[in-house]
Amino acid sequence: MRLLSGGVTLAAVLLAGAASADPDPTATLIVNDQIEIATRAPAPDHLKDVFDTVQSGWLYRTEETRALQMDDFDNPAMVFVDLGLEQWDGVDGSEGKSCASCHQGIDSMKGVRASMPKVNPAGNDLWSLENFINACRTQRMGAEEWKWNSDPMKQMTAAISLQSRGMASTIRIDGAAEPYWEQGREIYYTRYGQLELSCANCHEQNAGKMIRADHLSQGQINGFPTYRLKDSGIVSIHGRFVGCIRDTRGEPFKPGSPEFRALELYVASRGMTLPIEGLSVRH
Ligand code: HEC
Ligand code: HEC
Repeated sequence: MRLLSGGVTLAAVLLAGAASADPDPTATLIVNDQIEIATRAPAPDHLKDVFDTVQSGWLYRTEETRALQMDDFDNPAMVFVDLGLEQWDGVDGSEGKSCASCHQGIDSMKGVRASMPKVNPAGNDLWSLENFINACRTQRMGAEEWKWNSDPMKQMTAAISLQSRGMASTIRIDGAAEPYWEQGREIYYTRYGQLELSCANCHEQNAGKMIRADHLSQGQINGFPTYRLKDSGIVSIHGRFVGCIRDTRGEPFKPGSPEFRALELYVASRGMTLPIEGLSVRH
């Protein structure tokens, strides 16, 4: 076991995996009393030697936090979805266009979040949802690109992600996407920071255990973007990756970097049998 710092090992901050720390086996996610979203699923083939079942991060949260995601009136992320809808209809840039000018209603984005990240139309890069949005802004609207973790970008990804709620993932990890997936897997198993911890050290080997006061999940991204109570705001997938690498006292890659987009594809593939939750609530 690697040293955390001053002789503290990861084992010391992990309270041994008591059965009570495992997710509540009876919890079922039903949104607005209507939409049942599976939070457990058989592991995808490429992960079968690691997990039998993949589980949503929702299962690892307290009953109170879980409840917030079960009703759109209580879900604080919905305020940001409304702001995203305003952006959708807002004219911006030299061409005098809004997103709606070309795409019509936001429901035209149904299934889009479930397919991300994917190889771009030119076939020479892996793009996240944010890249597609910025490509339309710069190439089709004559508008400036939004910063990855800016408010308008997070509001827009929130509004677009909601359109895929409950849908199955359609990501591709073969063909042109395969090299990115391989790169992402490599990053997932690399130890970072002074603590020398990989994503897998926490989210694979110790999922279900308590780390300090936190219940460690499998680190799935099917619920992203997510509303974090701690931040009172929306957190992007790459924003979460930054936080986790900082916790290892490592120097994270930049949001939107090729490394984080590849990691996004690989992490998405670890939960590709789970439906898209759009939008989850975490503490
Ligand atoms: C020191 C342990 C640790 C390491 C290393 C770590 N994480 Fe995390 N991560 C956490 C904790 C604690 C949380 C919050 C509780 C939870 O959901 O597991 C979290 C949450 C997450 C979540 C949010 C899950 C959800 O459902 O809300 C994702 C995604 C994630 N981590 C991905 C990663 C990735 C990718 C890496 C590697 C770059 C990584 N983590 C490295 C401890 C870690
Ligand atoms: C001038 C027309 C036009 C405008 C304005 C426009 N788009 Fe697009 N957008 C397109 C076209 C064309 C495509 C590629 C074909 C397609 O997937 O519909 C596209 C693709 C996309 C995609 C990728 C869809 C997929 O399935 O891969 C997203 C996401 C997107 N646009 C979001 C937006 C957002 C958000 C805005 C406003 C900020 C916007 N677009 C403004 C024309 C436009």
